[in-house]
Amino acid sequence: MTIDPTTLDEQAVRTRVAELLDRSRARSTALTDAVDDSDLVAQHSPLMSPLVWDLAHIGSQEELWLVRDVGGREPLRPEIDGLYDAFQHSRASRVDLPLLTPPEARSYVAEVRDKALDALDRTPLRGRRLVDNAFAFGMIVQHEQQHDETMLATHQLRVGAPVLHAAPPPPGLDPVRLGPREVLVPGGRFEQGTSVEPWALDNERPAHPVDLPAFVIDTYPVTGGEYVAFVEAGGYDDPQWWSAAGWAHRVEAGLVAPQFWERDASGTWWRRRFGVVEPVPADEPVVHVCFHEAAAYAAWAGKRLPTEAEWEKAARHDPATGRSRRYPWGDDDPTPAHANLGQRHLQPAPVGAYPAGASAHGVHQLMGDVWEWCDSGFHSYPGFEMFPYPEYSEVFFGGDYKILRGGSFGTDPSAVRATFRNWDHPVRRQIFSGFRCARDATPVESAAGGL
Ligand SMILES: [Fe+2]
Repeated sequence: MTIDPTTLDEQAVRTRVAELLDRSRARSTALTDAVDDSDLVAQHSPLMSPLVWDLAHIGSQEELWLVRDVGGREPLRPEIDGLYDAFQHSRASRVDLPLLTPPEARSYVAEVRDKALDALDRTPLRGRRLVDNAFAFGMIVQHEQQHDETMLATHQLRVGAPVLHAAPPPPGLDPVRLGPREVLVPGGRFEQGTSVEPWALDNERPAHPVDLPAFVIDTYPVTGGEYVAFVEAGGYDDPQWWSAAGWAHRVEAGLVAPQFWERDASGTWWRRRFGVVEPVPADEPVVHVCFHEAAAYAAWAGKRLPTEAEWEKAARHDPATGRSRRYPWGDDDPTPAHANLGQRHLQPAPVGAYPAGASAHGVHQLMGDVWEWCDSGFHSYPGFEMFPYPEYSEVFFGGDYKILRGGSFGTDPSAVRATFRNWDHPVRRQIFSGFRCARDATPVESAAGGL
């Protein structure tokens, strides 16, 4: 959200916050009303919570921050706090807890929302860091949207007839209009992270200079067609493309292709997408690959994955001004012309579908479509300051995680920015994860300043 603190119109901010809270609740409702109660309480995968847990957990976090802390109200249901504390119960074990029933969860989140809106009306939006620029409200909007993406991933794992429907994404560009497959990003300094984005989370802060040598990065993510070529070339059978940990995981988990893919007797690859089985689209970014698969593909292609800093420089750096943009296309909030975000389409869009969303370096589809694996662990930026609680980021720093950037078709625009950092275990692929490749620039390319 764009907020200029120097001209802060508190009433306008309240109106905008209320709209965003409404939008996130509409999505949570659509995702939970789409199935019956037996589906809501079921465990569709040990990797995921029952949908009814996500719903009540959304309410629980909103109550903790907006009703109790910001609003100063008494707890509504203190006895359920522990059930919905993500750190007390693994996802796999939540199905066995005495959770609120679907009707109870719905009435709980509605009651919390009433009180949160009351707090929004009564709270001055300055004078305390938690409420400056409506930060706590923005954090809760993003939290609900993050769980809406998690619930969408649960829907993808659910077996049964399709229950979610959306329009197809816009068409892509043919290869001629799409232009070159990769682009050079010249060496030099850029500003990573942010100190001014009002709703940026602690791990995105502060802004700091980073010096990078010249590198070359793909102008769009690796597509299904490109990935099929890797599979058909025996990429899953040859350890030379895999790291030691990646190969061990490939063998142990029996990976032979992206999750939800299957080859028929004629050799055609099919994928299952929210209950629909269809041929793997050659021109859509590949999705549901783990970090190890992405890194193996990149090695096979003679490239590597970008680092997190390279991804962000390709996305934000404007060589004309030297400054870093909020989004690849500039500082304006995303519109449907910029990126495939917000569950507007339930699949990645073909490559080239968003020319208006390209970065200053000519890199397409950095935001939306698929989260992009980067070859970087999750670490704090220099000058990091935990806020407002350690369990958002700090406890994960240095763990067995790899960074994902840019959001997916399942991510709401309010929950992602070009500075936004996501992280997950390198073996995870039930998330909407894909990748693009990068490589070091050769001395000749680097000196020429272009390809
Ligand atoms: Fe959560």
